[in-house]
Amino acid sequence: MKKTYILLSSLLFLSTSVFAQKQPMNAFIDDLMSKMTVEEKIGQLNLMPGTDLTTGSKTNSPLVSLIEKGQLGAVLNTKGVAKIKALQEVAVKKSRLHIPLIFGLDVIHGFQTVLPLPLAQACSWNPQEVEAGARMAAEEATASGICWNFSPMADVALDARWGRVAEGYGEDPYLTSVMASAAVKGYQGSGETKGYAANELMACLKHYALYGAVEAGRDYNTVDMSHLRMYNQYLPSYKAAVKAGVGSVMSSFNIVDGLPSTGNHWLLTDVLRNQWGFNGFLVTDYSSINEMSTWGYGDQKASTALAMNAGTDMDMCSEAYTKQLKACIDDGTVTMYELNRAVRRVLEAKYKLGLFDNPYRYCDAKREKNDLYTAAHRQLARDIAAQTFVLLKNQNNLLPLKKSGSIALIGPLADSRNNLPGCWSTGDVPSKYTTIREAMQRYLGSNATVLYAQGSNIYDDSSRQKAAEFGRPINRGDGQQLLNEAVATAKKADVIVACLGEMAEMSGESSARADLNMPDAEARLLQALVATGKPVVLLNFAGRPTVLSWEAEHVQAIMNVWFAGSETGDALCDVLFGDKVPTGKLVNSMPRATGQEPLYYNHLNTGRPVPDGNKVFRKYQSNYIDVPQGPLYPFGYGLSYTTYQYSGVSLSASTMKPDGTVTASVTVTNTGARDGDEIVQFYIHDRYASILRPVKELKGFKRIHLAKGESKVVSFNIDAAALSYYDAEGKPVLEPGDFDIMIGPNSKQVYSAKLTFVAQ
Ligand code: NOJ
Repeated sequence: MKKTYILLSSLLFLSTSVFAQKQPMNAFIDDLMSKMTVEEKIGQLNLMPGTDLTTGSKTNSPLVSLIEKGQLGAVLNTKGVAKIKALQEVAVKKSRLHIPLIFGLDVIHGFQTVLPLPLAQACSWNPQEVEAGARMAAEEATASGICWNFSPMADVALDARWGRVAEGYGEDPYLTSVMASAAVKGYQGSGETKGYAANELMACLKHYALYGAVEAGRDYNTVDMSHLRMYNQYLPSYKAAVKAGVGSVMSSFNIVDGLPSTGNHWLLTDVLRNQWGFNGFLVTDYSSINEMSTWGYGDQKASTALAMNAGTDMDMCSEAYTKQLKACIDDGTVTMYELNRAVRRVLEAKYKLGLFDNPYRYCDAKREKNDLYTAAHRQLARDIAAQTFVLLKNQNNLLPLKKSGSIALIGPLADSRNNLPGCWSTGDVPSKYTTIREAMQRYLGSNATVLYAQGSNIYDDSSRQKAAEFGRPINRGDGQQLLNEAVATAKKADVIVACLGEMAEMSGESSARADLNMPDAEARLLQALVATGKPVVLLNFAGRPTVLSWEAEHVQAIMNVWFAGSETGDALCDVLFGDKVPTGKLVNSMPRATGQEPLYYNHLNTGRPVPDGNKVFRKYQSNYIDVPQGPLYPFGYGLSYTTYQYSGVSLSASTMKPDGTVTASVTVTNTGARDGDEIVQFYIHDRYASILRPVKELKGFKRIHLAKGESKVVSFNIDAAALSYYDAEGKPVLEPGDFDIMIGPNSKQVYSAKLTFVAQ
């Protein structure tokens, strides 16, 4: 009898309080906050991990008792409706104020249907597809209980040694801005303005800021940079995502101006909120507040006060707020104003997510059963994947391959299922996916023979391979025996397709590399395959630009396939056998040697420049003794099965005034034998400026379809914004003078015209 009474009374409470979202947001939150104790307020700022994934040091506080006591606001790394519903029930039924939890996860490139890595997606130069992919990821993750996504990563990354290049959109601020904004729109839909639908995810922009500039490409390392460079090169992409309406932001592990980002008031408040108008909530990265002490700032309490006063709302995995904030309030180092502000922002997010209305709206077991890995999602992933492959070399038109004869499919990645998704794949079920070998056999049927051999280990050193595999192993065998089998297999075939490169987890978080060459065992295999004299196609797997100097000289065809996700096998067949034409173009410069990193196209000229491609060392000039100048393959580069011809650039006027617009146009003609999509790129260069400008800056691009023989005029509008840059305070500067207006198929091969900007 007593039991029934409790249940009825709590239902009564739920109907008047938890399900009271019909009340306008501010009034609802005012009302709720008036009932909260300081401890309960602090509890809302606490984000703790579940047990499905670990991306930092493990924390032991039992979630359920924290939830019951109102000491937890959100959970990360728990997925699946059953588990999430169980935790949500504790919050809603057992905590005093019944405030629901937010459930967050890194849904970086798809969920159970895995999309290509973000880096690969950027190589499509197709923001509509990036948005559609994010939409699909939201559809699947929300069906699995998740409502908050630690994505997109808008860190501009110039240094390929950094493993997290995989998670971003390359080296260019403009392209990264476009892609990160597309991802935000895809995840969130109109959630921020109209309230989230049950299949929309709140995005979390990361890692704010400058994480892509960690010294030597080593994770968690120092960043030291002028404000001028920040505003012009590194901050625009975060700003664009804020403008696109991102609901939350994550601070970065690195320091900015000598302080961890998480405690940097200038970064988190002056720039993010005051200059850019961000009004969502800000979360730390994993245990960042505790790491402020390790960096050398102060003890946990001092770090807590600094973080809170800088504008950090939620504490991920440090438990610093729950342990120290009350003491900070008591001694006045943090005021109730700051605490209330942070709590309000978190409650606002919960309100917008509709959780007060229905805490279980993301816990629909039927959706979880029906909406994951659907035929439509797989088709989308396959289409996107085919657009991300970048054809780097295609001597004598070796590609596309004939759908007849015999193909030797060789390499440790050719028949691996668990490596298909790539890094940061948190919702995958590899047992459902088709390996490249299986896909190729299915695709060719009885028309051609697919011979297979693994051919090599990844690294000769088994402990190095073990360290790099991170839960996604590739079987090891005797190196010499594997090699002999592969050569014997290759000799029986008409053509060799070699699937080599990085394992999935050799990029992503905590996967820095100091040597970007092909791992040793695979490099030896490739040399042996080339030595057979058979034509070789290298499919290079990578989550970053790698060094392919030997390969570029000796291998007939090279296609960078990155990690293309669950549908890799089918997507590769589409392109390898010519049903589709490769269209991807690089979003990072590919180095000739690791020592060139950081390498990027939009560098300053120096006072002693040496042209890209120069091979003979020039003393007292800006170049290397032992490597030719510039990248092996430049930013924006990628071949097709057809060819395109560009006319020169014509301008609608040769001068422009501040309020004017000039149009720059080229005619692009498909001069080859196939229909195709070409990515036309528009760059500018400010010849003389009072603060030096890069040799080239991407300002626009268009992906166009051209039937064979077809010509199209492609135009870009140039306005004051395109010609301006930022000063050290983040204010736009526009100066009269001459600009080179450049259009072309990649950052190196451009056609140019001069535009004079006049003040009056
Ligand atoms: C650490 C990573 O830096 C961040 O990107 C990620 O979102 C969090 N861990 C949570 O998994």
